[in-house]
Amino acid sequence: MNGIKVAIVGVGNVASALIQGVEYYKNAKTEEETAGLAYPDFAGYHVGDIQFVAAFDVADTKVGFDLSEAIFAKPNNVMKFNEISKTGIKVVKGPLLDGVDDILKALVTVSDASDADVVKVLKDSGAEILLNLLPGSAEDATKYYADMALKAGCAFINGAPIPIASDLEWSKKFKEAGLPLVGDDIQDQLGSTVLHRSILQLLVSRGVKVDKSYQLDVGGGAESLDSHYRGRMRKRGVKSEAISQDLPYDAPLVAGSSDYVDFMDNSRDSYFYINGRQFGGAPIKIDIRMEVTDGPNAGPILLDAIRGTKLALKRGLSGSMESISAYGFKMPPLPTTMYRAERWVEEFLLGKRKL
Ligand SMILES: NC(=O)c1ccc[n+]([C@@H]2O[C@H](COP(=O)([O-])OP(=O)(O)OC[C@H]3O[C@@H](n4cnc5c(N)ncnc54)[C@H](O)[C@@H]3O)[C@@H](O)[C@H]2O)c1
Repeated sequence: MNGIKVAIVGVGNVASALIQGVEYYKNAKTEEETAGLAYPDFAGYHVGDIQFVAAFDVADTKVGFDLSEAIFAKPNNVMKFNEISKTGIKVVKGPLLDGVDDILKALVTVSDASDADVVKVLKDSGAEILLNLLPGSAEDATKYYADMALKAGCAFINGAPIPIASDLEWSKKFKEAGLPLVGDDIQDQLGSTVLHRSILQLLVSRGVKVDKSYQLDVGGGAESLDSHYRGRMRKRGVKSEAISQDLPYDAPLVAGSSDYVDFMDNSRDSYFYINGRQFGGAPIKIDIRMEVTDGPNAGPILLDAIRGTKLALKRGLSGSMESISAYGFKMPPLPTTMYRAERWVEEFLLGKRKL
């Protein structure tokens, strides 16, 4: 089986966890070794088939450094769970655009290296897939890299909460170019959105009427800072819309990032409040607090999305991929309930569902 060649834009906490994860699981076979993965094998590919071939960033702590060093450079603060030996891949500088705003400049100093020819770097590296892990508010930069993927002939996976795979125009462009497009906004392995959606589904299936619910996050990664100040309303819209898929009626639902607390590093506390009615109108109230680490939470979903995108490339599919996007992302082109999305992806893997 050939490797899967992936280029990354945005060498932040998620990229660090993903790259460490590929190393951590690359030879995993037994149940114990694959603990933490939903699919040790996905689309006929093992985690060890994934290879990183190029990386773009703008931070002076990362540009010009080997990828193995850049993933642990400040302001990244994700946990280190695997040593990474030298990769031979130097992080190159891409255009800044709206990647780092005045607030993020408190954490990121932009490198004064000149901008690379992104298409040339992608082509020379042999990348088949460009994975976008830019800050969640970097809309112009995300669109720029989607365009570069088209020009370089790469499939595009959009981890950021910017409409690309869920945008008809972009989907059309990728369709015309004969390239798969997957996204938008990673849905974590067990993050606040997934837990919230599961609880709502459980309540609905047990006949409980949900009257109102909110979910708030507090975190300390650079992305928490960005989404608190720049991306607050965008993130709130995406998350609230995602959980509403799992409630078959209208009710006040709010979900969003609520604050940045620097000493929390890359951990995230999520608070859930659900108020509803049971049999005879008896009240039910649920309060939950969950603590997770952000970067690793995105890891397994990205491993699956990368392998699913490779399968799409192999099958010659193009445009927005409905099943992988609905399974792994909060703002997919075709939103559905979480469990239906899981079924779609199984059908896609078996060739019973086209996209
Ligand atoms: N579990 C999760 O952490 C999670 C879940 C859902 C979505 N996401 C999304 O994944 C993305 C990445 O999250 P993160 O925590 O790794 O963010 P991060 O802030 O740690 O990393 C972003 C990286 O992008 C770099 N960057 C900024 N502007 C750039 C430009 N113009 N060109 C190249 N690089 C640039 C920054 O220097 C930084 O290294 C975000 O969009 C986030 O919303 C993450």
